[in-house]
Amino acid sequence: MRAVVLVGGFGTRLRPLTQHRPKQMLPLLDRPMIEWVAEHLGRAGVDEIVLALGYKPEAFLDAYPEGTCAGVRMRYAVEPEPLGTAGAIRFAAAELGLDRGDEPFLVVNGDVITDLDIGELVDLHRSSGAEGTIALSPVDDPSRYGVVPIDRDGRVEAFIEKPDASTAPSHWINAGTYVLEPALLARIPADRAVSVERETFPAVVAEGGLYALESDAYWIDAGTPETYLRVQLDLAQRRTGPDASWIHPTATVAPTAHVERAVIGAGVVVADGATVVRSVLGAGSRVGAGSTVHRSVVGPAAIVGDGASVHGLSVLGDAVELAPGAALRSARLPDGE
Ligand code: GTP
Repeated sequence: MRAVVLVGGFGTRLRPLTQHRPKQMLPLLDRPMIEWVAEHLGRAGVDEIVLALGYKPEAFLDAYPEGTCAGVRMRYAVEPEPLGTAGAIRFAAAELGLDRGDEPFLVVNGDVITDLDIGELVDLHRSSGAEGTIALSPVDDPSRYGVVPIDRDGRVEAFIEKPDASTAPSHWINAGTYVLEPALLARIPADRAVSVERETFPAVVAEGGLYALESDAYWIDAGTPETYLRVQLDLAQRRTGPDASWIHPTATVAPTAHVERAVIGAGVVVADGATVVRSVLGAGSRVGAGSTVHRSVVGPAAIVGDGASVHGLSVLGDAVELAPGAALRSARLPDGE
């Protein structure tokens, strides 16, 4: 089976980390996000993926010049301008000739990390004869997502983008993994940006052609500082056990430093008496003596000066220097870029 992976968004919610690279090239532990996604697809039997590229496509082309990613053959479709999620699917599918075939194909959001059973999703798609079949995940607060109520057979009844929390008819949300028939592509206008969530899926629902699978499998959309942090702590826990930290072998952590449930990248230095808790330190960053990093992300090569503190889901961008003794709380540095 073949898959379109959407990686062309601007990743604005993860700025400033996405200022110099697309979201899916940000690391999760020791590898870019896209490799975790490609590996999951490969394990599900996907033999070729096409990256739907828009923002900073060269980052992917440079990283995978051989056209393989995590062992899966990979091709590229670079949009001339942002086409939205549906426009990107149409454009990438045409590059692969998927629109001329009669085989269903997969589409995944490139910023979703999940253990979803893709085979089960494909089985439901084939048995229902749907035009499209999507995975759903449960969330506590559906108001940031597309909420998708279904009937007993799995047929989607409505597709409600970002409902008010109090009126949401279900807590099952669009999880960003789809099986689509080539026929669905003809619904997507070619001459403008189109959102699959806001336009295409609601139109298919109106004709009863969209099905969905509710899945409790691990799922996270890693597109915000909070979830980018959380997914890494979850992945670290899988590797190292509960409450342990994941520390790259080339990192240096002073014996007097206190490190707890943290992800510490290659070449990082954590100096004497520093405290790092529930945080991610990007490759080559430095946490100075006596400083504190708590529930925050320190970008690659950034420096937290001696005695400084970084708290409350703060984000330090690439090579940013926080002055000794400075305090950053729930803030981004640089801000507004
Ligand atoms: P924010 O700017 O933070 O809202 O994120 P985003 O637009 O990068 O990502 P969002 O979660 O809204 O989009 C879901 C997926 O679709 C992500 O993997 C994006 O990279 C991708 N995506 C969004 N818009 C486009 C587009 O116009 N073209 C392509 N190729 N991919 C897109």
